[in-house]
Amino acid sequence: MAALVQGSYLLTKSFAISKLALRGGARLRLGTPCRGSGKLRNYTAAAGASELPTHFTLPSGDKIPSVALGVWQAPPNQVGDAVTAALKAGYRHIDGAWAYRNEDEVGKALKASGVPRDQVWLTSKLWNSFHAPEDVEPALDESLKALGVDYLDLYLIHWPIALKKGTNNEVDEALTANPYPTWQKLEELVDKGKVRNIGVSNFNIPRLRNLTANPLKYKPAINQVELSYWNPQPDLVKWAKENGLLLEAYSPLGSSDLVRETFNVPEVKEISRALSITPAQAIISWHVQRGTVVLPKSVTPSRVEENFHVRKLPDELFNKLEKAAQAHEPRRVVNPSKRYNLGYDIFDDDGGVIVPDEDDAGERSGTGSWRTGV
Ligand SMILES: NC(=O)c1ccc[n+]([C@@H]2O[C@H](COP(=O)([O-])OP(=O)(O)OC[C@H]3O[C@@H](n4cnc5c(N)ncnc54)[C@H](OP(=O)(O)O)[C@@H]3O)[C@@H](O)[C@H]2O)c1
Repeated sequence: MAALVQGSYLLTKSFAISKLALRGGARLRLGTPCRGSGKLRNYTAAAGASELPTHFTLPSGDKIPSVALGVWQAPPNQVGDAVTAALKAGYRHIDGAWAYRNEDEVGKALKASGVPRDQVWLTSKLWNSFHAPEDVEPALDESLKALGVDYLDLYLIHWPIALKKGTNNEVDEALTANPYPTWQKLEELVDKGKVRNIGVSNFNIPRLRNLTANPLKYKPAINQVELSYWNPQPDLVKWAKENGLLLEAYSPLGSSDLVRETFNVPEVKEISRALSITPAQAIISWHVQRGTVVLPKSVTPSRVEENFHVRKLPDELFNKLEKAAQAHEPRRVVNPSKRYNLGYDIFDDDGGVIVPDEDDAGERSGTGSWRTGV
Protein backbone atom coordinates (compact mmCIF):
# COMPACT_ATOMS: atom_id res chain seq x y z
CA MET A 1 0.00 0.00 0.00
CA ALA A 2 1.32 3.42 -0.96
CA ALA A 3 2.04 6.13 1.53
CA LEU A 4 2.27 3.92 4.57
CA VAL A 5 4.31 5.77 7.12
CA GLN A 6 4.90 3.48 10.04
CA GLY A 7 8.18 1.94 9.00
CA SER A 8 10.22 4.43 10.98
CA TYR A 9 8.90 2.93 14.23
CA LEU A 10 11.56 0.33 13.66
CA LEU A 11 14.19 3.02 14.05
CA THR A 12 15.75 3.94 17.33
CA LYS A 13 14.21 7.00 18.98
CA SER A 14 17.09 9.34 18.14
CA PHE A 15 17.35 8.15 14.55
CA ALA A 16 13.61 8.48 14.20
CA ILE A 17 13.91 12.14 15.14
CA SER A 18 16.36 12.97 12.36
CA LYS A 19 14.35 10.84 9.94
CA LEU A 20 11.23 12.82 10.81
CA ALA A 21 13.07 16.08 10.40
CA LEU A 22 14.27 15.05 6.97
CA ARG A 23 10.97 13.81 5.76
CA GLY A 24 9.15 17.14 6.02
CA GLY A 25 5.84 15.39 6.50
CA ALA A 26 2.97 16.45 8.73
CA ARG A 27 4.57 16.88 12.12
CA LEU A 28 2.91 18.15 15.23
CA ARG A 29 5.47 19.29 17.74
CA LEU A 30 5.46 20.91 21.06
CA GLY A 31 7.75 23.85 21.59
CA THR A 32 10.71 23.72 23.91
CA PRO A 33 10.35 21.38 26.84
CA CYS A 34 8.65 23.18 29.70
CA ARG A 35 9.52 21.03 32.67
CA GLY A 36 8.98 23.00 35.80
CA SER A 37 7.94 26.14 33.99
CA GLY A 38 4.36 25.76 35.12
CA LYS A 39 3.12 26.66 31.63
CA LEU A 40 1.62 24.59 28.88
CA ARG A 41 3.14 25.14 25.44
CA ASN A 42 1.22 25.03 22.19
CA TYR A 43 1.81 22.60 19.39
CA THR A 44 3.19 23.80 16.11
CA ALA A 45 2.40 21.95 12.92
CA ALA A 46 4.75 21.82 9.95
CA ALA A 47 3.31 23.24 6.74
CA GLY A 48 3.02 21.32 3.49
CA ALA A 49 1.94 18.18 5.26
CA SER A 50 1.82 15.15 3.02
CA GLU A 51 2.07 12.36 5.57
CA LEU A 52 0.76 11.64 9.01
CA PRO A 53 3.09 12.07 11.97
CA THR A 54 4.69 8.85 13.19
CA HIS A 55 5.36 10.51 16.55
CA PHE A 56 4.31 13.47 18.65
CA THR A 57 6.77 15.32 20.84
CA LEU A 58 6.00 15.75 24.54
CA PRO A 59 7.20 18.57 26.81
CA SER A 60 9.99 16.28 28.06
CA GLY A 61 11.31 16.07 24.49
CA ASP A 62 10.31 12.39 24.27
CA LYS A 63 8.69 11.26 21.05
CA ILE A 64 5.56 9.17 21.52
CA PRO A 65 4.60 6.91 18.59
CA SER A 66 1.23 7.97 17.18
CA VAL A 67 -0.24 4.46 16.86
CA ALA A 68 -0.25 2.03 19.79
CA LEU A 69 -1.60 -1.41 20.49
CA GLY A 70 -4.27 -1.21 23.21
CA VAL A 71 -4.51 -4.25 25.48
CA TRP A 72 -7.69 -3.69 27.51
CA GLN A 73 -9.89 -6.79 27.41
CA ALA A 74 -7.11 -8.67 25.67
CA PRO A 75 -7.59 -12.07 27.32
CA PRO A 76 -4.82 -14.12 28.93
CA ASN A 77 -3.03 -16.35 26.45
CA GLN A 78 -4.01 -13.99 23.65
CA VAL A 79 -2.51 -10.70 24.72
CA GLY A 80 1.07 -11.99 24.49
CA ASP A 81 0.53 -13.10 20.89
CA ALA A 82 -1.07 -9.74 20.08
CA VAL A 83 1.98 -7.92 21.47
CA THR A 84 4.29 -10.24 19.52
CA ALA A 85 2.31 -9.57 16.32
CA ALA A 86 2.36 -5.85 17.00
CA LEU A 87 6.10 -5.63 17.57
CA LYS A 88 6.67 -7.72 14.46
CA ALA A 89 4.43 -5.39 12.43
CA GLY A 90 6.46 -2.41 13.61
CA TYR A 91 4.44 -1.02 16.53
CA ARG A 92 6.65 0.50 19.19
CA HIS A 93 3.94 1.58 21.61
CA ILE A 94 1.85 -0.55 23.95
CA ASP A 95 -0.97 0.99 25.96
CA GLY A 96 -1.55 -1.00 29.12
CA ALA A 97 -2.74 -0.55 32.68
CA TRP A 98 -2.51 -2.24 36.07
CA ALA A 99 -6.26 -2.79 35.88
CA TYR A 100 -6.03 -4.82 32.66
CA ARG A 101 -4.45 -7.67 34.65
CA ASN A 102 -2.19 -8.68 31.80
CA GLU A 103 1.01 -6.72 32.36
CA ASP A 104 3.04 -9.87 33.08
CA GLU A 105 2.08 -11.44 29.74
CA VAL A 106 2.76 -8.16 27.94
CA GLY A 107 6.18 -8.02 29.62
CA LYS A 108 7.04 -11.61 28.66
CA ALA A 109 6.13 -10.99 25.02
CA LEU A 110 8.18 -7.82 25.00
CA LYS A 111 11.20 -9.62 26.41
CA ALA A 112 10.85 -12.54 23.99
CA SER A 113 10.64 -10.15 21.03
CA GLY A 114 14.22 -9.05 21.50
CA VAL A 115 13.21 -5.46 20.80
CA PRO A 116 15.34 -3.29 23.10
CA ARG A 117 13.48 -1.64 25.96
CA ASP A 118 14.45 1.86 24.88
CA GLN A 119 12.78 1.38 21.51
CA VAL A 120 9.33 0.59 22.89
CA TRP A 121 6.99 3.11 24.45
CA LEU A 122 5.28 1.58 27.48
CA THR A 123 2.31 3.21 29.16
CA SER A 124 0.63 2.04 32.35
CA LYS A 125 -2.03 3.58 34.54
CA LEU A 126 -2.52 4.11 38.25
CA TRP A 127 -5.73 2.42 39.35
CA ASN A 128 -8.39 4.23 41.37
CA SER A 129 -7.68 2.29 44.57
CA PHE A 130 -4.12 3.60 44.74
CA HIS A 131 -4.54 7.37 44.67
CA ALA A 132 -3.53 7.83 48.32
CA PRO A 133 -0.02 9.32 48.12
CA GLU A 134 1.59 6.43 50.01
CA ASP A 135 0.05 3.89 47.61
CA VAL A 136 1.21 5.45 44.36
CA GLU A 137 4.80 4.22 44.22
CA PRO A 138 4.00 0.66 45.35
CA ALA A 139 1.34 0.48 42.63
CA LEU A 140 3.82 1.66 40.02
CA ASP A 141 6.39 -0.84 41.31
CA GLU A 142 3.87 -3.63 40.83
CA SER A 143 3.37 -2.63 37.20
CA LEU A 144 7.12 -2.30 36.60
CA LYS A 145 7.72 -5.74 38.10
CA ALA A 146 4.96 -7.37 36.05
CA LEU A 147 6.24 -5.76 32.86
CA GLY A 148 9.83 -6.65 33.75
CA VAL A 149 11.13 -3.11 33.21
CA ASP A 150 12.67 -0.47 35.44
CA TYR A 151 10.88 2.59 34.06
CA LEU A 152 7.72 3.54 32.19
CA ASP A 153 7.59 6.00 29.32
CA LEU A 154 4.21 7.22 30.51
CA TYR A 155 2.20 6.79 33.69
CA LEU A 156 -1.39 8.06 33.77
CA ILE A 157 -3.96 8.56 36.49
CA HIS A 158 -6.46 6.10 35.01
CA TRP A 159 -9.63 7.86 36.22
CA PRO A 160 -10.39 11.08 38.06
CA ILE A 161 -11.90 8.90 40.77
CA ALA A 162 -10.05 8.12 43.98
CA LEU A 163 -11.37 5.17 45.94
CA LYS A 164 -11.00 4.75 49.66
CA LYS A 165 -8.27 2.34 50.68
CA GLY A 166 -9.26 -1.30 50.56
CA THR A 167 -12.56 -0.64 48.79
CA ASN A 168 -13.43 -1.06 45.18
CA ASN A 169 -16.34 1.35 44.91
CA GLU A 170 -16.26 3.79 47.84
CA VAL A 171 -15.18 7.19 46.59
CA ASP A 172 -12.67 9.32 48.50
CA GLU A 173 -14.42 12.65 47.96
CA ALA A 174 -11.52 14.93 48.89
CA LEU A 175 -8.90 13.25 46.73
CA THR A 176 -11.38 13.01 43.87
CA ALA A 177 -12.22 16.72 44.15
CA ASN A 178 -8.55 17.67 44.08
CA PRO A 179 -6.07 15.00 42.97
CA TYR A 180 -3.04 17.24 43.63
CA PRO A 181 -1.58 14.98 46.39
CA THR A 182 -1.66 12.06 43.95
CA TRP A 183 -0.14 14.19 41.22
CA GLN A 184 2.72 15.30 43.48
CA LYS A 185 3.64 11.63 43.96
CA LEU A 186 3.70 11.15 40.18
CA GLU A 187 6.02 14.16 39.93
CA GLU A 188 8.32 12.50 42.46
CA LEU A 189 8.38 9.35 40.32
CA VAL A 190 9.58 11.43 37.36
CA ASP A 191 12.37 12.86 39.50
CA LYS A 192 13.31 9.35 40.64
CA GLY A 193 13.60 8.23 37.00
CA LYS A 194 10.93 5.55 37.34
CA VAL A 195 8.60 7.34 34.95
CA ARG A 196 9.59 9.54 32.02
CA ASN A 197 6.26 11.33 31.46
CA ILE A 198 3.07 11.69 33.47
CA GLY A 199 -0.49 12.41 32.51
CA VAL A 200 -4.14 11.73 33.16
CA SER A 201 -6.99 9.82 31.61
CA ASN A 202 -10.71 10.50 31.45
CA PHE A 203 -10.31 14.12 32.59
CA ASN A 204 -12.72 16.67 31.12
CA ILE A 205 -11.80 20.35 30.77
CA PRO A 206 -13.00 21.41 34.25
CA ARG A 207 -11.01 18.58 35.82
CA LEU A 208 -7.91 19.53 33.83
CA ARG A 209 -8.28 23.14 34.93
CA ASN A 210 -8.90 22.01 38.49
CA LEU A 211 -5.69 19.95 38.55
CA THR A 212 -3.52 22.48 36.74
CA ALA A 213 -4.66 25.28 39.06
CA ASN A 214 -2.29 23.73 41.60
CA PRO A 215 1.37 24.76 41.58
CA LEU A 216 2.49 21.80 39.48
CA LYS A 217 6.11 20.94 38.88
CA TYR A 218 5.20 19.01 35.73
CA LYS A 219 1.96 19.63 33.86
CA PRO A 220 0.07 16.61 32.47
CA ALA A 221 1.68 15.68 29.15
CA ILE A 222 -1.22 13.51 28.02
CA ASN A 223 -4.94 13.09 28.57
CA GLN A 224 -6.18 9.69 27.39
CA VAL A 225 -9.89 9.86 26.61
CA GLU A 226 -12.62 8.15 24.64
CA LEU A 227 -12.48 9.55 21.11
CA SER A 228 -14.31 7.90 18.27
CA TYR A 229 -16.66 8.66 15.41
CA TRP A 230 -19.41 8.36 18.03
CA ASN A 231 -17.76 10.57 20.63
CA PRO A 232 -15.45 12.96 18.77
CA GLN A 233 -15.26 15.62 21.53
CA PRO A 234 -14.34 18.56 19.26
CA ASP A 235 -14.29 21.04 22.16
CA LEU A 236 -11.81 18.96 24.13
CA VAL A 237 -9.67 18.40 21.02
CA LYS A 238 -9.58 22.17 20.41
CA TRP A 239 -8.91 23.02 24.06
CA ALA A 240 -6.11 20.46 24.28
CA LYS A 241 -4.39 21.85 21.18
CA GLU A 242 -4.67 25.39 22.49
CA ASN A 243 -3.22 24.34 25.81
CA GLY A 244 -0.38 22.13 24.61
CA LEU A 245 -1.88 18.93 25.94
CA LEU A 246 -1.69 15.83 23.75
CA LEU A 247 -4.78 13.63 23.64
CA GLU A 248 -4.79 9.87 23.18
CA ALA A 249 -7.86 8.32 21.55
CA TYR A 250 -9.12 5.27 23.38
CA SER A 251 -11.87 3.03 22.01
CA PRO A 252 -11.00 4.67 18.67
CA LEU A 253 -13.00 2.15 16.63
CA GLY A 254 -16.00 2.42 18.93
CA SER A 255 -14.80 -0.50 21.09
CA SER A 256 -16.28 -3.96 20.64
CA ASP A 257 -19.80 -2.50 21.13
CA LEU A 258 -19.75 -0.18 18.13
CA VAL A 259 -16.92 -1.33 15.89
CA ARG A 260 -19.27 -2.83 13.30
CA GLU A 261 -21.40 0.32 13.24
CA THR A 262 -18.28 2.42 12.79
CA PHE A 263 -17.28 0.46 9.71
CA ASN A 264 -20.75 1.04 8.26
CA VAL A 265 -20.62 4.82 8.50
CA PRO A 266 -21.04 6.05 4.88
CA GLU A 267 -18.12 8.51 5.15
CA VAL A 268 -15.85 5.75 6.48
CA LYS A 269 -16.90 3.46 3.64
CA GLU A 270 -16.34 6.24 1.12
CA ILE A 271 -12.76 6.80 2.36
CA SER A 272 -12.14 3.09 2.36
CA ARG A 273 -13.32 2.78 -1.25
CA ALA A 274 -11.60 5.92 -2.51
CA LEU A 275 -8.20 5.10 -1.04
CA SER A 276 -8.36 1.29 -1.23
CA ILE A 277 -7.82 0.96 2.49
CA THR A 278 -9.91 -0.85 5.08
CA PRO A 279 -12.54 0.94 7.20
CA ALA A 280 -10.34 0.37 10.27
CA GLN A 281 -7.41 2.04 8.51
CA ALA A 282 -9.66 4.94 7.45
CA ILE A 283 -10.82 5.64 10.99
CA ILE A 284 -7.39 5.14 12.61
CA SER A 285 -5.87 7.52 10.03
CA TRP A 286 -8.59 10.08 10.82
CA HIS A 287 -7.61 10.00 14.51
CA VAL A 288 -3.92 10.66 13.81
CA GLN A 289 -4.87 13.39 11.35
CA ARG A 290 -6.92 15.04 14.13
CA GLY A 291 -3.63 15.32 16.02
CA THR A 292 -4.17 12.56 18.57
CA VAL A 293 -2.32 9.40 19.47
CA VAL A 294 -4.56 6.43 18.68
CA LEU A 295 -4.81 3.16 20.62
CA PRO A 296 -6.69 0.49 18.62
CA LYS A 297 -6.98 -2.85 20.40
CA SER A 298 -7.04 -6.19 18.66
CA VAL A 299 -5.99 -9.70 19.58
CA THR A 300 -6.34 -10.86 15.99
CA PRO A 301 -2.84 -10.79 14.45
CA SER A 302 -4.04 -9.86 10.94
CA ARG A 303 -6.05 -6.94 12.36
CA VAL A 304 -3.12 -5.86 14.54
CA GLU A 305 -1.03 -5.62 11.38
CA GLU A 306 -3.83 -3.91 9.43
CA ASN A 307 -4.41 -1.27 12.10
CA PHE A 308 -0.80 -0.12 12.03
CA HIS A 309 -1.01 1.21 8.50
CA VAL A 310 -2.27 4.75 8.53
CA ARG A 311 -2.11 7.36 5.80
CA LYS A 312 -3.02 10.97 5.34
CA LEU A 313 -6.58 11.43 4.10
CA PRO A 314 -7.25 14.04 1.43
CA ASP A 315 -8.60 17.18 3.14
CA GLU A 316 -12.00 16.85 1.52
CA LEU A 317 -12.55 13.31 2.81
CA PHE A 318 -11.08 14.12 6.23
CA ASN A 319 -13.38 17.14 6.61
CA LYS A 320 -16.41 15.17 5.47
CA LEU A 321 -15.80 12.49 8.12
CA GLU A 322 -15.09 15.11 10.79
CA LYS A 323 -18.33 16.90 9.94
CA ALA A 324 -20.34 13.67 10.06
CA ALA A 325 -18.77 12.73 13.42
CA GLN A 326 -19.84 16.06 14.87
CA ALA A 327 -23.32 16.01 13.33
CA HIS A 328 -24.91 13.39 15.61
CA GLU A 329 -25.50 13.23 19.35
CA PRO A 330 -22.34 12.01 21.11
CA ARG A 331 -22.39 8.39 22.27
CA ARG A 332 -19.99 7.12 24.89
CA VAL A 333 -19.08 3.47 25.39
CA VAL A 334 -17.10 3.74 28.63
CA ASN A 335 -18.59 5.49 31.67
CA PRO A 336 -18.32 4.09 35.22
CA SER A 337 -20.24 6.96 36.88
CA LYS A 338 -23.14 4.71 37.86
CA ARG A 339 -20.88 1.91 39.10
CA TYR A 340 -19.36 4.29 41.63
CA ASN A 341 -22.70 5.85 42.61
CA LEU A 342 -21.20 9.25 42.04
CA GLY A 343 -24.52 11.08 41.90
CA TYR A 344 -23.21 12.97 38.88
CA ASP A 345 -21.75 12.06 35.52
CA ILE A 346 -17.97 12.04 35.67
CA PHE A 347 -17.80 13.56 32.18
CA ASP A 348 -20.30 16.38 32.66
CA ASP A 349 -18.80 19.84 32.83
CA ASP A 350 -20.46 20.36 36.18
CA GLY A 351 -19.84 16.79 37.34
CA GLY A 352 -18.53 16.95 40.88
CA VAL A 353 -15.47 19.08 40.44
CA ILE A 354 -14.51 22.44 41.89
CA VAL A 355 -13.33 24.58 39.04
CA PRO A 356 -11.12 27.61 39.56
CA ASP A 357 -12.14 30.81 37.85
CA GLU A 358 -10.00 31.55 34.78
CA ASP A 359 -8.12 34.26 36.68
CA ASP A 360 -7.07 31.80 39.37
CA ALA A 361 -5.50 29.22 37.05
CA GLY A 362 -2.04 28.32 38.30
CA GLU A 363 -2.49 30.32 41.47
CA ARG A 364 -4.47 28.08 43.76
CA SER A 365 -3.99 29.26 47.31
CA GLY A 366 -7.09 28.01 49.00
CA THR A 367 -8.43 31.54 49.33
CA GLY A 368 -9.28 32.28 45.70
CA SER A 369 -12.77 32.44 44.37
CA TRP A 370 -14.23 29.10 43.38
CA ARG A 371 -17.44 27.79 42.04
CA THR A 372 -18.63 24.30 42.64
CA GLY A 373 -20.55 22.39 40.08
CA VAL A 374 -21.80 19.59 42.31
N1 LIG B 1 -8.05 4.99 29.76
C1 LIG B 1 -9.16 4.31 29.74
O1 LIG B 1 -10.01 4.42 30.63
C2 LIG B 1 -9.42 3.37 28.60
C3 LIG B 1 -10.72 2.88 28.39
C4 LIG B 1 -10.94 2.05 27.30
C5 LIG B 1 -9.88 1.72 26.45
N2 LIG B 1 -8.61 2.19 26.70
C6 LIG B 1 -7.47 1.86 25.82
O2 LIG B 1 -7.87 1.96 24.46
C7 LIG B 1 -7.69 0.71 23.82
C8 LIG B 1 -8.69 0.51 22.70
O3 LIG B 1 -10.00 0.63 23.17
P1 LIG B 1 -11.09 -0.53 23.05
O4 LIG B 1 -10.43 -1.84 23.25
O5 LIG B 1 -12.21 -0.16 23.93
O6 LIG B 1 -11.69 -0.37 21.60
P2 LIG B 1 -11.29 -0.33 20.05
O7 LIG B 1 -9.84 -0.41 19.85
O8 LIG B 1 -12.04 0.83 19.53
O9 LIG B 1 -12.02 -1.63 19.51
C9 LIG B 1 -11.61 -2.91 19.81
C10 LIG B 1 -12.56 -3.87 19.09
O10 LIG B 1 -12.41 -3.72 17.67
C11 LIG B 1 -12.06 -4.97 17.08
N3 LIG B 1 -11.12 -4.67 16.00
C12 LIG B 1 -9.89 -4.12 16.11
N4 LIG B 1 -9.33 -3.95 14.90
C13 LIG B 1 -10.21 -4.40 14.00
C14 LIG B 1 -10.18 -4.52 12.58
N5 LIG B 1 -9.14 -4.10 11.88
N6 LIG B 1 -11.27 -5.07 11.97
C15 LIG B 1 -12.34 -5.49 12.67
N7 LIG B 1 -12.42 -5.41 14.03
C16 LIG B 1 -11.36 -4.86 14.69
C17 LIG B 1 -11.44 -5.77 18.21
O11 LIG B 1 -11.60 -7.16 17.96
P3 LIG B 1 -10.46 -8.29 18.23
O12 LIG B 1 -9.65 -7.89 19.41
O13 LIG B 1 -11.29 -9.51 18.47
O14 LIG B 1 -9.66 -8.39 16.97
C18 LIG B 1 -12.27 -5.32 19.39
O15 LIG B 1 -13.51 -5.99 19.42
C19 LIG B 1 -7.79 -0.29 24.97
O16 LIG B 1 -7.26 -1.55 24.65
C20 LIG B 1 -7.00 0.44 26.04
O17 LIG B 1 -5.61 0.33 25.81
C21 LIG B 1 -8.39 3.02 27.76
